[in-house]
Formats: sequence, C-alpha cells, structure tokens
Amino acid sequence: MSRQRNPQLWVVRWFIRSTSALLNISYTRSQAFESASMCKELKTRVLRIPPQRQQQEWTEVLSATVTALKAGQVVAVPTDTIYGLACVAQNSSAVHRVYDIKGRNGDKPLAICVGEIQDIYRFCKVSVNEELLSDLLPGPVTLVLERSATLNADLNPFTKLIGVRIPDHPFMRRLCQMCGEPLALTSANVSAQTSTVAANEFEDLWPSLAVVVDGGPIGDKSRLGSTVVDLSVCGRYRIIRPGCALSATVKVLEGKYGLLEDPVNQ
Ligand SMILES: *[C@@H]1O[C@H](CO)[C@@H](O)[C@H](O)[C@H]1NC(C)=O
Ligand SMILES: *[C@@H]1O[C@H](CO)[C@@H](O)[C@H](O)[C@H]1NC(C)=O
Ligand SMILES: *[C@@H]1O[C@H](CO)[C@@H](O)[C@H](O)[C@H]1NC(C)=O
Repeated sequence: MSRQRNPQLWVVRWFIRSTSALLNISYTRSQAFESASMCKELKTRVLRIPPQRQQQEWTEVLSATVTALKAGQVVAVPTDTIYGLACVAQNSSAVHRVYDIKGRNGDKPLAICVGEIQDIYRFCKVSVNEELLSDLLPGPVTLVLERSATLNADLNPFTKLIGVRIPDHPFMRRLCQMCGEPLALTSANVSAQTSTVAANEFEDLWPSLAVVVDGGPIGDKSRLGSTVVDLSVCGRYRIIRPGCALSATVKVLEGKYGLLEDPVNQ
C-alpha cells in the first residue's frame, strides 16, 4: 500500500533494510577479526573440506595445512573420533604452543599420529606383533607403547610411554603421509567435560590456530574419544580410557591374541 502511495519512501526503507543487513554482516566479521588479531600476527584460516566422496578436491586444503604444520604452527583437524589439535611432533616450540593452547586441560599427554603402521616402529618400541597393530589400526584406538629415542624428548617429558594413533579418516591419513613425520595430537576440547565433534564447538580456540580444517560433524557416538590401551608390557593390556571402541578392542586383544588384562601395571 505505502509502496504505491509513496514509491520513494519504499525505496528509502528498502535501502536502509539492506544496508543494515550489510552492516550486521560486517559487524560480525570484524568481531571475528578482532578475536583473531588478539593473537599477534597469527591469522586463522578456516578451511572447509567437501565430503569424503569428493576427496580429489581436498588437495588445496591438504597443502595449506601441511605448509602451516611445517612452519611449526598448530592446526585443528577432524579425526575419526573428535576434532584434534595437531603440530609437528619433532618441533619442540610447536609442541609447547599446543601445551599453551590447552592451558589447564594440558596435563594430559599428547599422542602422536602417523600415516602408516611401519612409522610406529621408528618412534616406539613395539612389544606386540605387527598383525595386532594392523587389526586395530587405522581405527579409533590409541595404542600406548614405550617410546624410542628418535621421538622428540620434549614431547611428554614426564613419561617413557607414548600413545600412537592412525585415525581412520582419509584426510588425516593423507595429511600424515604428506608431512612424512609424526604429528602430535590432542583433543580440541575447550573443557575437560566436552569433547568436540564439530568445528564450531571449539571456536574459542580458533584465534590460537593457524588453520582450522572443518570436515563437518563427526558423529555423536565418537564423543567418547578413542579407546586408549597400554600395550607396553609384553602379553598384557591395560585400558586407560574406555573410549568409543572398547568391546571391539578387547575382543582383538583377548580373543585373538590372548593378552591378559592388567589393571595395575604402570
Ligand atoms: C545479525 O547477525 C546476527 C548474527 O550473525 C543474526 O543472528 C541476526 O539475525 C542478524 N540480524 C539481522 C537484522 O540481519
Ligand atoms: C618449529 O616451529 C617454530 C614455530 O613454532 C618455527 O619458527 C620453526 O621454524 C620450526 N622449526 C623447524 C625445524 O621446522
Ligand atoms: C575431552 O573430553 C572427553 C570427554 O568428553 C574426555 O574424555 C577427554 O579426556 C577430554 N580431553 C582433554 C584433553 O581434556
């Protein structure tokens, strides 16, 4: 009605409406920029990867992530369980950045993540047979083994053990293969209570990260995180965290390999 009576007024209103929508957008953007710039020169890049069936389109994100990692920066990546923070494990200053970012939640040891079963032998003293490793990996399981002297001594200096992961996630597999060296990996939780299965759940941490790889929601079942099992004592296993694959893991360890549960070894 008013539009017919006063076309000029309508145009003015329309203009104000669209301008305020625009302003609103730029306001939101500048807020994001402000929080990102809190962290000195670091500029966070949030890179979305298309679904797994379009893996050929991951190339650019993979190479941007590798570049950041090789520069000693910390990135967020999707795994087969929850979102993780990763850096090159052999770079001590990068490892310290991860501890800084985790803050109070950083007293848990970092795991390492490798691309192939063979890589495990370089960084760990393997006390189980290789077939057992390939029965459990890649998968949502962290195997705790004795570390070798090759592994960066600044990574969890308080223990001679190290957790190893090969996430069953094609992006992570490719990333580790392209890096050619182990990545230190920890959960991207913002608190010890909530694990993150979507990239926006740890937005608070984004400003501290060089790259956030958003692979979409991972799935609620995996919120428990990986099953963590200590295999550092021959013939024994000890569950450190039940995680999301407890029964499948125990079935392999006891059922197929006859390992005995050791609730007390340390
Ligand atoms: C302004 O942006 C916020 C956050 O992005 C959104 O929730 C809100 O609906 C927007 N308002 C307008 C008028 O577009
Ligand atoms: C290790 O990381 C730091 C930044 O955290 C970087 O400046 C340095 O070049 C890296 N060192 C190597 C050998 O990659
Ligand atoms: C992340 O949260 C899960 C529970 O949701 C917890 O099991 C895990 O220990 C947390 N990790 C860290 C490093 O806080």
